[in-house]
Amino acid sequence: MPESVHRCTISQLLSDARSRIERFEPAQALAAMRNGATIIDIRGDTDRIHDGIIPGSLHIPRTVLEWRLDPDSDWRSPHIAGLDQPIILLCDHGFSSSLAASTLRDLGFQQVGDVIGGFEAWLQAGLPVGIAPPPRPACELPGMGPHDPEAPAGVPQSQQHHWDTALVRQGSTGVSWYQPIPDTSLELIETLDIRRDAAIIDIGAGASSLVDCLLTRGFSDITVLDISAVALRAVQERVPPHAPVRWLHADVLTWNPTRHYALWHDRAMFHFLVTPADRQRYLEALRAAVQPGGAVIIGVFAADGPDHCSGLPVQRYGADELASALGPTFQVIGTTRSDHRTPAGGVQPFTWLVARRQRS
Ligand SMILES: C[S@@+](CC[C@H](N)C(=O)[O-])C[C@H]1O[C@@H](n2cnc3c(N)ncnc32)[C@H](O)[C@@H]1O
Repeated sequence: MPESVHRCTISQLLSDARSRIERFEPAQALAAMRNGATIIDIRGDTDRIHDGIIPGSLHIPRTVLEWRLDPDSDWRSPHIAGLDQPIILLCDHGFSSSLAASTLRDLGFQQVGDVIGGFEAWLQAGLPVGIAPPPRPACELPGMGPHDPEAPAGVPQSQQHHWDTALVRQGSTGVSWYQPIPDTSLELIETLDIRRDAAIIDIGAGASSLVDCLLTRGFSDITVLDISAVALRAVQERVPPHAPVRWLHADVLTWNPTRHYALWHDRAMFHFLVTPADRQRYLEALRAAVQPGGAVIIGVFAADGPDHCSGLPVQRYGADELASALGPTFQVIGTTRSDHRTPAGGVQPFTWLVARRQRS
């Protein structure tokens, strides 16, 4: 045993570490990444799957960080250029990243920093997030993989950002469109008498519990499509990992369906399309996706409903207007109205339309 051990509190350790590194607000870290810095996500797989990832960052868990970064290590990552590569570490809350960044200074890295507040602050700042790719197979060394995926091609960042931010700021049960049980959707789906193994897609699904309810009712081929990675993640967290659900992170306006669906469901997405060109693109996807004889359920703000939602203008519809927007390819089976009660206590009238695609 050494005669005397120099003891340091964790606050001293932290302040020593932080005196040796650069600290970045989330937006500054994003700007630095766009300028060539590498953001290294040192969180574990569980947090990444639960909370999401930063598109374009590199995942190297804290436990193997030094071995993956030291240029003299036999286990170095092929994705780190060298000691002059600017590095910004990211953890959950911005504490262990500071300590880890300080050890990278010891390894000789010249520009090392971390993200103040970690991933939590990144989310709160409404910066881009993505869905974690599946963890690498256990036979592969952790932290050797490529950069985390960028947003899928065709997803406009500004729009994803709008919806991601709305969900992060208000929470999935605080947004005005939240409903604990999607009663009207479920009632309308029941009227269609759809086979339990038929393919169903929920367009602009958000964090809606429709998918949970369909699974409970035994439906076994459900696709959830949304432009918001935060929304998809919220639903993924809820449903069992092996549930028969396909996840599509996509903009419906640029999406090319690769299969047919027996039912297309959309509650409160279509009404955000306020230009003829956008509605035309939506209808092209709809016609390509729904099989002949397949059904469509669309719910939008009624003619006497709000003219904005989530800070965006909406197109309001009566039943006839909605039917004519859908065009002659679809035959109307029925229409109805419902009053949605928002979490803040407001009432939003909806117009619903159920239609079937002509067989020829
Ligand atoms: C008002 S929310 C409705 C969510 C859900 N349908 C519900 O009833 O709770 C609108 C949803 O549409 C999604 N969305 C908006 N524009 C979209 C687009 N172009 N492609 C795919 N999803 C879109 C948003 O991310 C958001 O989740």
